[in-house]
Amino acid sequence: MKILILPGDGIGPEITAVTRSALEVLDRKFALGLEFVERDIGIAAIEKGLDPMPDTIMEEVRVTPFTMLGPVSTMEYPSEVQHLPSPSSLIRDNLDLFANIRPSRTRSGVPSVAKQMDLVIVRENTEGLYQPLLSRSAHLARGEEYSGISDISIPGMDGEFAWDPRPISRIGSERVIRFAFELALQRSGNPSDGTTRVTCVDKSNVTRGCQLFRKIYREIATDFPNIETDESYIDAFTMWLVRQPEFYDVVVVPNMFGDIVTDLASALQGGMGMAASANIGDHHMLFEPVHGSTPKRAGKGQVNPIAMLSSVQLMFEWLGRRKEDSDATIVSQIVESAIEELITKGNPLTYDLGGSASTSEVSLAICASVTEKLKSHYVNA
Ligand code: IPM
Ligand code: MG
Repeated sequence: MKILILPGDGIGPEITAVTRSALEVLDRKFALGLEFVERDIGIAAIEKGLDPMPDTIMEEVRVTPFTMLGPVSTMEYPSEVQHLPSPSSLIRDNLDLFANIRPSRTRSGVPSVAKQMDLVIVRENTEGLYQPLLSRSAHLARGEEYSGISDISIPGMDGEFAWDPRPISRIGSERVIRFAFELALQRSGNPSDGTTRVTCVDKSNVTRGCQLFRKIYREIATDFPNIETDESYIDAFTMWLVRQPEFYDVVVVPNMFGDIVTDLASALQGGMGMAASANIGDHHMLFEPVHGSTPKRAGKGQVNPIAMLSSVQLMFEWLGRRKEDSDATIVSQIVESAIEELITKGNPLTYDLGGSASTSEVSLAICASVTEKLKSHYVNA
């Protein structure tokens, strides 16, 4: 299985390097058949005189089923290219990775405001406020004129102004909402009483795009009579998420609201260092931590690799699901329980979790524990 690694900027190379080493150890011991290809994007590509997301690499992403992406700091790009969309947005758009899955859960050993939480936020990943920027950059890349959104006037608005259309389509909403319901069927409900529930989060009291999103949510819900429905406006949802995180199971949300609220959920689970994500389309998957590139910590070997390692855990989970590969499912469960155990034990952990261990110490500890577990699994099997 070929895995394309795009390390990205800031702390990206450190967390992807330890994750790759962990995967290589597992591959050597258990012949998982992994093959790694690593390519520069972001600032490393710019420094070589290339685009931050070169077309040739986009093509490689297209022909590789799994990509591991580190964070990229567009804010640190030289000013001439700062307007370009991030590689992550470009890949999501190009490969039509319409569902961004961001699980968040509390774990014993990780200090958190939330007492009990085990939810998955399914963020619509290709439309809304992100769509015009991507479509503009796609037109310009093809050398085409782009007249889509600039020449308008709005009564009552004089002088310089900028506006961001937020297109939301029936097709785009249907597929991600159905995805969320189907995902809920595979989980065991919320952590407080096991209720299987899909919450639709939007701002349908104000925006037309959200009205369409909610209408489609209600239509699709009728195909899943055993799943409890629940609707919330995004503003109220941020309050309820803090007050009763244990109530939620699967949450489906339009793109930008999903961007915002998944950072909140990450903080509730104990910090961005733990937050993993999977971008899923019909034919491709991209795995990346939710956090950014944290330039001030870069090169110090201090940051928490768990968000990236958990993203790899999601990779095995989805490989297991999509290809009905039970070995991949087992590896995913074992990686998850190794992370859980390390955190419960409380050592070694990085600074964000109250420890003083390095990125590689944490990764090596998780890797050693995964190796032990895999050994005993295959002996018992
Ligand atoms: C995320 C990030 C991206 C987004 C940025 C880097 C473009 O914040 O994945 O949550 O806005 O989607
Ligand atoms: Mg974000």
